[in-house]
Amino acid sequence: MKAYLLYFSGTGNTFYVVKKISDMLNKKNCSTEIHSIEEKSPINANSFDILILGCPKYYEYPVVEFIKYIKDYLPTNHKRVPVMMFCTQVAHLETNFNEIEKILKRKNYRLLVTKSIPIANNMVIFDSFPVTKPEKVKQNLEKLESEMKHLITCLLTGKESKETMKPLYSQVTFASGYLFTKLFAWFGVKYSTSQSCNGCGLCAKKCPVGNIKMCKKIPKFDKKCIFCMRCINSCPKNAILYNRKSCKQYQAIKSEY
Ligand SMILES: Cc1cc2nc3c(=O)[nH]c(=O)nc-3n(C[C@H](O)[C@H](O)[C@H](O)COP(=O)(O)O)c2cc1C
Ligand code: SF4
Ligand code: SF4
Repeated sequence: MKAYLLYFSGTGNTFYVVKKISDMLNKKNCSTEIHSIEEKSPINANSFDILILGCPKYYEYPVVEFIKYIKDYLPTNHKRVPVMMFCTQVAHLETNFNEIEKILKRKNYRLLVTKSIPIANNMVIFDSFPVTKPEKVKQNLEKLESEMKHLITCLLTGKESKETMKPLYSQVTFASGYLFTKLFAWFGVKYSTSQSCNGCGLCAKKCPVGNIKMCKKIPKFDKKCIFCMRCINSCPKNAILYNRKSCKQYQAIKSEY
């Protein structure tokens, strides 16, 4: 049996979960192939038996960029492959997976397992969205381990385990996801850099949507930011400013992405 894991991770939390799932599947003799949507690798829909999708939750909705990728690049499959979709987040609230389920259905996949996974807040630039305490992160990770075992069993045995959401709330989350994604793209221009920037260009190289261009060794920010926080967290000089104020760098989970 083979599983294909496709994900987007701004700062590493989602990638941590993807790796965890992959390790658990390998222990059950299921081989795994892991790809980020940023690789844009062609997908052979008939080369795997299970599909696992994961991304963070932004503005109470799965990352819109990720949904667009699934819509545009996931090929139709002939075997009605079972799918697990999860979102990493801070809060303990359910996620609206309705849109992703419709897209998967059109492409002949069966969404069997959905899960919202609280880990830690990576939104480091606004004080109203507080940093998750280390003990809480530890607790979340322990819970994730035990819950994931159960969900993987469901996926492998074809047993459905899906989150549900009231129709009105699902409409609200759909609207907030798309609205705030559009709005915040413009707020990307509020980023700038401090004197400590050495012009290394790492932020521009790492930005998943090409929102940063180096201009005479100075990063220039455009209006297509998805607010993933990666540039702030990966700058070796902590030189990125938001609204001309320095930003906290925070990485609860030390993992690649
Ligand atoms: C722009 C933005 C919006 C976010 N919105 C929410 C949210 O609505 N609810 C929530 O619980 N967490 C929210 N978060 C927190 C992230 O979902 C969470 O930290 C996630 O695990 C980050 O995953 P990553 O490290 O793979 O990028 C938001 C983070 C960002 C950057
Ligand atoms: S990563 Fe930091 S130091 Fe390097 S160019 Fe970007 S802002 Fe400057
Ligand atoms: S500019 Fe920074 S926060 Fe915006 S998308 Fe690029 S890496 Fe993410």
